Order: sequence, then structure tokens, then C-alpha cells
Amino acid sequence: MGIFADRVALLGTENAFRVGPAIARLEAEGHRVIRCNIGEPDFPLFGHIRDEVKRQLDADNTHYCDPQGVLPLRETIAREMSRTRGIEITPDRVCVFAGAKPPIGYSQLLYCNPGDEVIYPSPGFPIYESFTRFVGAVPVPLHLEEDRGFAFGGDELRALITPRTKIIILNFPSNPTGGVATEAQLAEIAATIREHAPEDVRVYSDEVYEHILFDGAEHHSIASQPGMAERTIIVSGASKSFSWTGGRVGWAVLPTAEEAAAFKNMNINDISCVSPYNQMGARVGLGSMLSDAEIRRMVSAFQQRRDVVVDGLNRIDGITCHKPRGAFYVFPNIGGVCEKLGIIDAFESLDEEQKAATSPATIFQLFLLEKYHVAALDRRSFGVIGSEGRHFLRLSIATGIDDLREAVVRIGQASRDRDGVADFLQEVEAPWTFDSARVAENTSQSSPTTVH
Ligand SMILES: Cc1ncc(COP(=O)(O)O)c(C=O)c1O
Repeated sequence: MGIFADRVALLGTENAFRVGPAIARLEAEGHRVIRCNIGEPDFPLFGHIRDEVKRQLDADNTHYCDPQGVLPLRETIAREMSRTRGIEITPDRVCVFAGAKPPIGYSQLLYCNPGDEVIYPSPGFPIYESFTRFVGAVPVPLHLEEDRGFAFGGDELRALITPRTKIIILNFPSNPTGGVATEAQLAEIAATIREHAPEDVRVYSDEVYEHILFDGAEHHSIASQPGMAERTIIVSGASKSFSWTGGRVGWAVLPTAEEAAAFKNMNINDISCVSPYNQMGARVGLGSMLSDAEIRRMVSAFQQRRDVVVDGLNRIDGITCHKPRGAFYVFPNIGGVCEKLGIIDAFESLDEEQKAATSPATIFQLFLLEKYHVAALDRRSFGVIGSEGRHFLRLSIATGIDDLREAVVRIGQASRDRDGVADFLQEVEAPWTFDSARVAENTSQSSPTTVH
């Protein structure tokens, strides 16, 4: 009998954080690692929010507060979400969390019995799949196909809905594909849900990238579709919009006040409340013209970087890369590179158990990090189930443009280094997983300090 409960084996992780110690080790060895792994804007927190947080600290607003979220923030969220989604939202339906991540797991804990099914996009934010398994629910991936521009419609969704479906997760703009839903696409998805899913099925609409949109694209929420506000949990937060991942302020609008109270009780059981001074900072940020200007500046930098990186990647033999319309990631297909470097053959030489622990994209990702010092993430980091045979990397473009240019150069060099790959595969023990990299880390002299 091990020390942990059985469910611990079911819990996945977010590799964007896990790769941190390997980066720290390489840096301690004197290498300059370009960090394209983590999803956080590389801009400072907006000045007007920073000032408000300081003001709140000076006023000693530093104690326990309402576990559902302080009323001034919930009022502002209700007002802004009502205005931007064209629906009527009251503060008693809002709950504030320590970021936009906690409501994912809370939803699964609150709505799913063991055996209930959760439909989620794959590739998608890894916690969707990880936490579903952890609570004993059944993960049902909705595969986003490259040849459809990673989009999907009502038919693909309908094929997955069963009497056990309890939650349908949507994420637009999407991590990692950068997909943005059109109103017509959301209308079709909504019609499918109204027609085929019972009324108690909840749509979890993760809209945390709502402000990161390119080429004049607009954000639409499924909650604005007829009959959908009553079934939809709208989630957003301060991490991406205000470049404030360390603030840990996120929020959800629940279909009913009763459901918001259940989420509040999760906070009571878990974190008690979110720092009140940060909540007041988020209140100042939301819907402010000052924030709009800062967001425009940030998004225009992301768009310029996207163009540089996508063009550069598409010039590399063996890589094809779609142009994302939102969020701050690119998601190139590296199948050709894996083929030409002999990685697919090496992968095929593994036994079935080893194959289940890695993928060609994982091997390339490790090679790229260890030998060319670019930190990226493999396709498996965005949903393991059904990821076989799909060879993609995710690169965050929330890094300076000069570093991104250099990253593209290094990826090009790595993509031609067949001998380097052969040596790497000898050096690192099969099956070439994150854990192999951790073996290297444990034997290193360095003492990593950063965690992301
Ligand atoms: C799709 C998606 N949802 C939720 C989150 C979590 O955001 P937060 O840092 O506010 O918890 C992220 C963070 O990367 C994300 O990409």
C-alpha cells in the first residue's frame, strides 16, 4: 500500500510549470534559455491597478473578506459581464477565485458524480482532462483537427453528448490553438446543446483570453446565445487581461445564485477568500479606459510577434503553423521535423508501455530544451487522451521579440540536427519523458530556484 490515495495516480499536471526546474538547471550551467513555455504576458502590471493595490495595502485592507468575493468587485464584474455579453447578471451570481483555474476543478467536484462525463477540447488547457479524472468523472476529448483550423461545429459536439454528460467545456480564444469562435459557430454549438443536452448540463465557457484578439477579431460568448445564459458558467480573470498572473484573481458568473453559493462554499472549504487588496485592484482594472489602452498596447505587441514567429516557423522545412487569431500561443505541426530527424523511428522502437509515456513531439521538445535551450511544450501537455500520432509544439509568444526571433533560429537549427538527436537519444534514457529530464536535473550540481 502506498502513502497516497488511489486518485493521486489520476491527477495530471501543467507542464508549463513542471519544465521550470530544467530551465533553472540549464541556466545555472550558463546557458541562455528562451522561455516559450509559460502562458503569462511579459508586461508589467498596469500602473493604475498597481496604485490601487498599494492604496488598499496602506488602508490595511489585508484581512479575511467575503469568500464569494468582495461586493464592489462582484458588482463591477456583474456590470461588465452584463454589458459585454448582452445579458442580465446580478452580483449574487458572481464568485471570485484565486485565478481562473480553481473553478475548473470546483465545477467538476460540484456537478459530477463518479462516471459522469466531461467533454473538453483537446488540445486544450491540461487541467480540464487532469481534474476530470481526479474526481472520478470520465474525460471525453473533443478533438480539434488542424485541417479544420482547430475549429469544430455542432456535429462534432453532438457525437459526444450522452445521458452521462454533465459538463461541456469550451475555451475561446483557445489555449493552445489560438482559435476564436465566430458568432455563427457559437450559434451552431448552442443549438446542438439546447437540442441534445438536458437542461442540467453545464457549459463551462473559459473566456480567460477574452481580450487577447488579433486582426480585429471580436470576442463572443456562448452565454449570449438564446437560452444559454441559464446553462453557462462564464469564466474570466485578471491574469491574462491585466498581465497579472501573480495577483490570483479570477471569477465566474454562475447560472443561478444557488450555484454561486455552492462555489462560495468551495472557497470557504479551500482558501477562505482571495486577497481583498488584489480584488480591489481588479475592480479598478475592469472596464476601465486605462486598461483598454494598456490591453491594446499589449495585444499589438503580441500580434507583431505572432506574425514574426508564424512566418519564421513556416519557413522551416518540416513545420507548418496556423496563424492564431487570439491568446498568445502558436501551435506548429512538427511532424515533418520528427520524421526527418529520425524521432518517429526512435519512438516506434519503444515498447507499448514506453510509448504510452512519451511521444515524438515530447522527444523533440526535450531535445530543443536540452541542446538548443528553447523551452516549449509538446502536444501531450494539452491532453494526453487521443494525442497519439499528433505532432505539435506550443510556443508562448509572451516573450520579447528579439528572443522570439532567436528561438525561431534555434528551432530551425535543431530541425536540421539529425546527428545531435541521435547523440541525445543515447545520452538520455528511453522512453525520453519529462522524468528522464528530471533524472538529469537530480544529478546536476545546480540548485534550481525558479518554478516556472
Ligand atoms: C485556458 C486557460 N484557462 C485558465 C487558465 C488559468 O488562469 P489563472 O492563471 O488565472 O488561474 C489558463 C492559464 O494559462 C488558461 O490558459
